[in-house]
Amino acid sequence: MASCSWGLLLLVACLAVVKGTLTLTSSLSRTRETETEKEALLGTGWWRNRISLLNSSKCHHCNWIGIDCSKAGRVITIGLSSKEVDLWHGFETLNFSSLPHLQRFDLSGCYLGGGIPHQIGMLSEVKYLYLQYNDLRGKLPISLVNLTQLEVLDISWNYLSGSIPTGIRSFKNLLYVDLGCNELTGFIPLELRNMNNLVHLDLRQNKFTGTIPSELGFLTKLDYLDLSKNQFNASLSFQLIYLAQLKNLVYLDLGHNKLTGFIPKLGNLSNLVDLSLRDNSFTGFIPLELGNLSNLVSLDLGQNKLTGTIPSVFAFMTKLDHLDLSFNQFNGSLAFQLADLTHLTHLDVSHNSLTGRIPVFK
Ligand SMILES: *[C@@H]1O[C@H](CO)[C@@H](O)[C@H](O)[C@H]1NC(C)=O
Ligand SMILES: *[C@@H]1O[C@H](CO)[C@@H](O)[C@H](O)[C@H]1NC(C)=O
Ligand SMILES: *[C@@H]1O[C@H](CO)[C@@H](O)[C@H](O)[C@H]1NC(C)=O
Ligand SMILES: *[C@@H]1O[C@H](CO)[C@@H](O)[C@H](O)[C@H]1NC(C)=O
Ligand SMILES: *[C@@H]1O[C@H](CO)[C@@H](O)[C@H](O)[C@H]1NC(C)=O
Ligand SMILES: *[C@@H]1O[C@H](CO)[C@@H](O)[C@H](O)[C@H]1NC(C)=O
Ligand SMILES: *[C@@H]1O[C@H](CO)[C@@H](O)[C@H](O)[C@H]1NC(C)=O
Repeated sequence: MASCSWGLLLLVACLAVVKGTLTLTSSLSRTRETETEKEALLGTGWWRNRISLLNSSKCHHCNWIGIDCSKAGRVITIGLSSKEVDLWHGFETLNFSSLPHLQRFDLSGCYLGGGIPHQIGMLSEVKYLYLQYNDLRGKLPISLVNLTQLEVLDISWNYLSGSIPTGIRSFKNLLYVDLGCNELTGFIPLELRNMNNLVHLDLRQNKFTGTIPSELGFLTKLDYLDLSKNQFNASLSFQLIYLAQLKNLVYLDLGHNKLTGFIPKLGNLSNLVDLSLRDNSFTGFIPLELGNLSNLVSLDLGQNKLTGTIPSVFAFMTKLDHLDLSFNQFNGSLAFQLADLTHLTHLDVSHNSLTGRIPVFK
């Protein structure tokens, strides 16, 4: 290890002598920074079982498993997802302040326990943060708001609690957010409206409450929105206007909440492939404009309080594969137009008050 770093130092020094004293100074300080980074990596103990690497010609830490460096030799990636390294000590051993150039930090699926430390806010260059599929607990640190370069944030499938920190208005670069499958509480922050580059927003299976804010309507690039399995309540009738602006949506799941009122106006979301409003308290008829959603493959309106007859609009959804209208209060006969849905593999209209003949499917 020692011979390794001395070799590097020597090489750098030689090059520097050729280029002049000024370069020597900056090269040396760069070398010192590189050493600090190496020490920070060594200090984690994560590569402990891989120490044999240090003896080989690939001794430089930039060649360690999961590490990538910039041309200047600064660590820009730690990517240990499902790698054979030992993260036994979790975050405790990582000196965040020594890795100021980190852009990609991926510890997903590493059995990481404990909390997300406050010091994570020092990774001010980080663009990709992947901590999903771990055993992380506790609150999201307020220092997360420091990570203004973030493009991807995935902390799904942990046990994180508390609310989303306020002050996230500077997240202008965010493209992808997945906070799903945690125990987060509180409201969706209205600052969301500033994240207007967001393409993917997943908050499913948490304990978020309150209304779905109309600020969502500013996120016009969204193609994936999953707010299912929370405790969102109140009428959507104010928000429906804003949902109609999300014309790039391909996936929309508002299922398993406490939403009431009429089914929102979604007729303009012609890219929708997957729509679920399941297990809420929506009332009224199925709006005819749903027939506009000709790309739908899966539609789930089950477990609501919808009434009236099943309209013929489904005939236009020729790609429909999965249709669930069960546990509502539909009456009348099952529209024969359903027979035109040649791609259907799943149809559930049980627990309604339907009468008449069972349609013949082609
Ligand atoms: C690595 O080098 C050290 C001393 O330079 C030596 O004690 C150790 O056995 C070496 N390890 C391997 C795996 O070669
Ligand atoms: C972390 O590294 C910095 C140098 O980058 C050092 O000053 C500081 O003492 C280290 N912190 C700990 C807790 O080791
Ligand atoms: C936020 O980032 C700045 C550098 O951009 C750093 O000095 C500061 O310590 C960070 N704050 C937290 C809470 O991590
Ligand atoms: C919605 O939920 C919040 C928080 O649980 C509650 O304070 C509010 O009264 C609820 N509103 C409605 C209309 O149920
Ligand atoms: C649907 O789009 C048309 C044309 O862009 C617009 O006039 C109409 O208001 C939109 N409908 C809703 C419900 O937003
Ligand atoms: C149906 O889609 C067309 C464009 O494809 C749009 O002009 C119209 O407003 C939509 N209708 C409703 C009710 O949203
Ligand atoms: C369906 O139920 C409504 C009352 O909820 C009733 O007015 C209507 O006549 C019923 N329609 C059929 C076809 O049974």
